[in-house]
Amino acid sequence: MVAGLALLTTAAAEDLTQHVDPFMGTEGGGNNFPGAARPFGMVKIGPDLFDSKSDAYSGYLPQGNFSGFSLMHEQGTGGAPKYGTVSQLPLIGDVSDPLSNITVPRSGTDEASVGYYKATTGEGVTVELSASSRAGIFQYTFPNASSNNVLVDVSHVLPSFRGQGLGQGYEGGNITVFGDGHYEGAGVYNNGWNEAPDWTLYFCGYFESSATSNKTYTATGSSKSTEDPSGAASASSGSTRVGAVFAFSESTVVSRVAKTSFSSVVSDAVSEWNTKVLSKITTDNTNATSLSLLYSSLYFMHLIPTNQTGENPGWSSSEPYYQDIFTFWDLFRCGTSLMQVLQPASYEEQIRSLIDIYRHDGYLPDARSSNYNGRTQGGSNADNVLADAYVKGVRGAVNWDDGYKAMVQDAEVTPPNDPVDPMAPDSSTHDGRSALPDWIQYGYITPTFSRAASRAVEYAANDFALYQVASGLGKDDDAQKYLNRSRNWRNHWNPAKTSLGFSGFVVPRDTSGFIDYDVLNAGGYWTDPFYEGSSWGYSFADVHDMKHMIELMNGTDTVVSRLNIMFVDGAKGSSGTIFDPTNEPMFNIPYLYNYLGRQDLSVERSRQVAKADYTTGVTGLPGNSDAGAMQTWLLWNMIGLYPITGQTTFLIHSPWFSSMTIDLGDSKTLKITSTGGDGNGDSNIQVQSLKVNGKTWTKSWLTWDDVFAQGGTLEFELGPTAKNWTSGELPPSPAS
Ligand SMILES: *[C@@H]1O[C@H](CO)[C@@H](O)[C@H](O)[C@H]1NC(C)=O
Ligand SMILES: *[C@@H]1O[C@H](CO)[C@@H](O)[C@H](O)[C@H]1NC(C)=O
Ligand SMILES: *[C@@H]1O[C@H](CO)[C@@H](O)[C@H](O)[C@H]1NC(C)=O
Ligand SMILES: *[C@@H]1O[C@H](CO)[C@@H](O)[C@H](O)[C@H]1NC(C)=O
Ligand SMILES: *[C@@H]1O[C@H](CO)[C@@H](O)[C@H](O)[C@H]1NC(C)=O
Ligand SMILES: *[C@@H]1O[C@H](CO)[C@@H](O)[C@H](O)[C@H]1NC(C)=O
Ligand SMILES: *[C@@H]1O[C@H](CO)[C@@H](O)[C@H](O)[C@H]1NC(C)=O
Ligand SMILES: *[C@@H]1O[C@H](CO)[C@@H](O)[C@H](O)[C@H]1NC(C)=O
Ligand SMILES: *[C@@H]1O[C@H](CO)[C@@H](O)[C@H](O)[C@H]1NC(C)=O
Ligand SMILES: *[C@@H]1O[C@H](CO)[C@@H](O)[C@H](O)[C@H]1NC(C)=O
Repeated sequence: MVAGLALLTTAAAEDLTQHVDPFMGTEGGGNNFPGAARPFGMVKIGPDLFDSKSDAYSGYLPQGNFSGFSLMHEQGTGGAPKYGTVSQLPLIGDVSDPLSNITVPRSGTDEASVGYYKATTGEGVTVELSASSRAGIFQYTFPNASSNNVLVDVSHVLPSFRGQGLGQGYEGGNITVFGDGHYEGAGVYNNGWNEAPDWTLYFCGYFESSATSNKTYTATGSSKSTEDPSGAASASSGSTRVGAVFAFSESTVVSRVAKTSFSSVVSDAVSEWNTKVLSKITTDNTNATSLSLLYSSLYFMHLIPTNQTGENPGWSSSEPYYQDIFTFWDLFRCGTSLMQVLQPASYEEQIRSLIDIYRHDGYLPDARSSNYNGRTQGGSNADNVLADAYVKGVRGAVNWDDGYKAMVQDAEVTPPNDPVDPMAPDSSTHDGRSALPDWIQYGYITPTFSRAASRAVEYAANDFALYQVASGLGKDDDAQKYLNRSRNWRNHWNPAKTSLGFSGFVVPRDTSGFIDYDVLNAGGYWTDPFYEGSSWGYSFADVHDMKHMIELMNGTDTVVSRLNIMFVDGAKGSSGTIFDPTNEPMFNIPYLYNYLGRQDLSVERSRQVAKADYTTGVTGLPGNSDAGAMQTWLLWNMIGLYPITGQTTFLIHSPWFSSMTIDLGDSKTLKITSTGGDGNGDSNIQVQSLKVNGKTWTKSWLTWDDVFAQGGTLEFELGPTAKNWTSGELPPSPAS
């Protein structure tokens, strides 16, 4: 089996999966999922490690014991673990108490390649895993042919030890073993990061070998597991666990759900990743590090959302259904726009799915898993995603009248505070914009609401999104109204607030005025005025109004200095920079120099961040991947463009490679070439000149129509020193 796999990964020259390292960014907070999956696959099969001190967000940890190998996981998330549902665990010997939270130590080092995962337990059992989009396959190799068992634990979930009240619950389930060799059942689970109510997962499976015995069990509380002689165990509440144990006399046991061999499931996965994802970007670069960063990043950004079309819960619809959006707060900045470029067909389906979720659940999701919206960290950022898709021409079967209605719901109707979020009890984090009462009445948000200042800057951007779509649909009154509202971030602008010699910051405020706040404080969380970022960063959030923002900050020269100081180690009074590469709110900061006529500094800063904070190691990500958000930031850095979500604008910096071709679908391509660089983006990175579609270009930005709508070419001439090549107009600031 293993020899066969080695052959697969070396045989074909065009097998780009060889450059994907599934363990990249799995540790140090990256939380990447290393198991087996398909692009947008609902099943992500992988190991679940138990360590009583560490949350295993994607199931995997480098340490701990195996509590199981389960079918469902998220990719790269933080906060609190989700899924780890329906698990199997191979066990040797007499399994007298199967539902007693058994764990087995790990032996050796886990191995993985695209579509394949392998681990060995301390009992000497080798577990190999692969997946199709909605099924998993487990292959067990036991050290000898006696006393071999597989436990199927319906009650297994990934636990959380952080004490935030966001631990998942198992709420009951059942499993029945049938005479024809298959088993089926359902598990009911709840909570996790998005505070979901009970949701039900139905499963079925069978073993290729016939079991010498099979037994179903229940266990209540901490008492010993009880065998259910009927072969069908069932529990109506979470206090009773449910599972089954199958015993085998063969040493190789395959557990699967379809009549396909293990090796063909793996090779199908490799082929699907090559054709649908990895071949979308090709380059002449041969540097192993760069190729690993490129193809691993492409891989990890396609693990969620999951295409669950046909499985939409509680309503029947012919629209596509995608979920596991974890979260738009992370992804709207540069992830969703790259998704549109690389996966136009899926992206149209994703947009239709969002609108269908609004039709049936009442609101667009800012985040969604286990078929439930939540949690909303800032604004209703699906608005930004819809606006971005709208202005870049996503039409097809999208019903934009309903899309716009969904956005108006976000902008006008306060969601009920149900469920109450224990970490932010003041207002709903389920969906919508729960600080709307202030936003509509005052045009700013008072401390009645948690995260008031960071929500205000995001609500302004959301209103700009409504302006964009309303304009396009010819709703001129609405357009004017929302353009006006999109400027309300200015109401939080305290011109007198100073920090490190700079004046003017977005600050908390109430009806009697501004409230003093440490604008360097980057440690805010759910109940603080700023969420997961400092005022230094959030003050730059509303780029739709950039020209006005620059005026408020005392003009171009001051803003250049102000951005510069954000990259000076220790400027904030402690080690590290004000610029925070570990989280999404500051994603745009290194690129904002383009608005100041200093494109060269965008190149310098953003490349410094990309090369220093992203590496190929297991700790290679600066923070949580967040559904691939981090990886999409890196990919845009390699490409040489950065999207301004909600507008057709792309800021130009500089590409890494001497050649890169992006397949845009429908036989269209964007070809990016450069001469004079080192071919790898480490030196000679400054732009000397640029041609767009063969014509000399002097702007530091371009639009969707320039190179994406019909394809195009970008020809860069690079060199070691900055050259002032951008005499053209500055990037647009439509709200200024
Ligand atoms: C892992 O299993 C071993 C052997 O059963 C046990 O000694 C150890 O405490 C377990 N570790 C954890 C983190 O559960
Ligand atoms: C079966 O495997 C176990 C675990 O490796 C080992 O302890 C035992 O000696 C083996 N038994 C036989 C008969 O080979
Ligand atoms: C489970 O056991 C029952 C009775 O012992 C048998 O009829 C059935 O075929 C077994 N099923 C499996 C999947 O082993
Ligand atoms: C198992 O549980 C599911 C979900 O609650 C339910 O729909 C199904 O009828 C149950 N099956 C059995 C055999 O109890
Ligand atoms: C297994 O873990 C659960 C959840 O932590 C706990 O409620 C239960 O008592 C444990 N069971 C045993 C047998 O230790
Ligand atoms: C490959 O790229 C890495 C990272 O950019 C660089 O450090 C290394 O020198 C490059 N190797 C070669 C052979 O160019
Ligand atoms: C999403 O899943 C549905 C149902 O399996 C399928 O018809 C559709 O083609 C999938 N979308 C993409 C982009 O693969
Ligand atoms: C814009 O907002 C200002 C101040 O909030 C208000 O006076 C004005 O009427 C608004 N204009 C429109 C077109 O809504
Ligand atoms: C404001 O900008 C002007 C012109 O660049 C500069 O001379 C002055 O020092 C700036 N003031 C502050 C407080 O930054
Ligand atoms: C770049 O050149 C333009 C005119 O071509 C000039 O307006 C601008 O100030 C120059 N910028 C810098 C940073 O020198």
